Amino acid sequence: MILVTGGAGFIGSNFVLHWLAGGRGPVVNLDKLTYAGNAENLAAAREDPRHVFVRGDIADGGTVRRLLDAHRPAAVVNFAAESHVDRSIHGPAAFVRTNIVGTYELLEAVRHYWTALPPRERESFRFLHVSSDEVYGSLETHEPAFTEARAYAPNSPYAASKAASDHLVRAYHHTWGLPTLTTNCSNNYGPRQFPEKLIPLVIVNAVHGRSLPVYGDGGNVRDWLYVADHCSALLRVLEAGRPGEVYNIGGSAERTNLQVVHALAGILDELRPDRAPHARLITHVADRPGHDRRYAMDTRKLESGTGWRPVEAFETGLRKTVAWYLDNMDWVGNVTSGEYRKWVDLNYGGR
Ligand code: NAD
Ligand code: DAU
Repeated sequence: MILVTGGAGFIGSNFVLHWLAGGRGPVVNLDKLTYAGNAENLAAAREDPRHVFVRGDIADGGTVRRLLDAHRPAAVVNFAAESHVDRSIHGPAAFVRTNIVGTYELLEAVRHYWTALPPRERESFRFLHVSSDEVYGSLETHEPAFTEARAYAPNSPYAASKAASDHLVRAYHHTWGLPTLTTNCSNNYGPRQFPEKLIPLVIVNAVHGRSLPVYGDGGNVRDWLYVADHCSALLRVLEAGRPGEVYNIGGSAERTNLQVVHALAGILDELRPDRAPHARLITHVADRPGHDRRYAMDTRKLESGTGWRPVEAFETGLRKTVAWYLDNMDWVGNVTSGEYRKWVDLNYGGR
């Protein structure tokens, strides 16, 4: 039995489905169902008695304590967060509340639960905190990739809130010995990513013949990882990670945003030739304030410590992702409610 938070979002739902498909034990899934969380993401687990979904907030300590006491999990995996950088620029408050205060409340509840466990269960218990490469700030073009020893230098309110949560996790290990694991991962892509993020946004806009907005010169670099590879890394860290340690996760697939958008346009040209060339829809728009130029992850610690390797190449992962969205435009229609249209106006209207 594990407790997953934020398991109705993009990575969390992929992780829950991956966990259940592997024939593992039950999962209690605590999710607030914000705009980014959708019960439909877990449709494949609807009939599975091992999956217990609870709508609730990680910042509500009482709810978390009741779930821990009722289900006695052997591990907690914390995905719950506000995750979109642009939204943190328009409104940082929700990021402080969920990512910082929420992680604090979750840690407090888990600390009390863990302290009262019998010795063998205390020993094997794990709190896995899922975090981001953005806590390290931005790399120059020729700098080596981030290692776990890199000093934190978060640049957006989102990154700062994730950095604060990482520091709290570290402190709970250092002060009380809570067996924590922290993972810092690069940009994920794949099925069920909310279409506010670059890759699904470009696919969905292209399908509708809308412009493909590229911030600034499009030269910003991200290190892309297929979501299934992130999930397999998290499992390896849960199984083989050392308590108190931090592990970087990444795909060693650095691409500029323009390269990503052109790659997507090329795949769409093949799959939807009637609309080709999709690249004609590319539009440079005003840059994101404080836009980090480059992220890249050094994953040697994870690979040597757990034996993990990513299996999906960027080109094949991107193709699978485009195919998934083309096959699931109903899902896109369901998750892009009125709130989504308001967001599009807010973020893109003035650019
Ligand atoms: P997401 O926005 O798709 O999903 C977040 C989920 O958390 C949603 O289901 C939402 O309803 C839930 N949630 C939000 N606030 C909550 C609260 N207070 N209590 C309970 N549930 C709450 O995010 P994602 O892309 O799946 O990211 C998951 C985690 O991985 C986040 O912590 C994020 O910082 C981290 N991460 C994401 C990426 C990426 O590329 N997407 C990369 C590295 C790390
Ligand atoms: O690096 C890990 C992080 O990756 C995660 O911690 C975040 O939760 C996740 O959202 C993601 O952050 P990014 O800001 O890198 O992802 P996003 O998809 O928003 O943007 C990717 C790049 O594309 C970034 O350089 C900004 C650019 N971009 C984004 C959008 C939405 C555009 O050029 N146009 C757009 O419309």
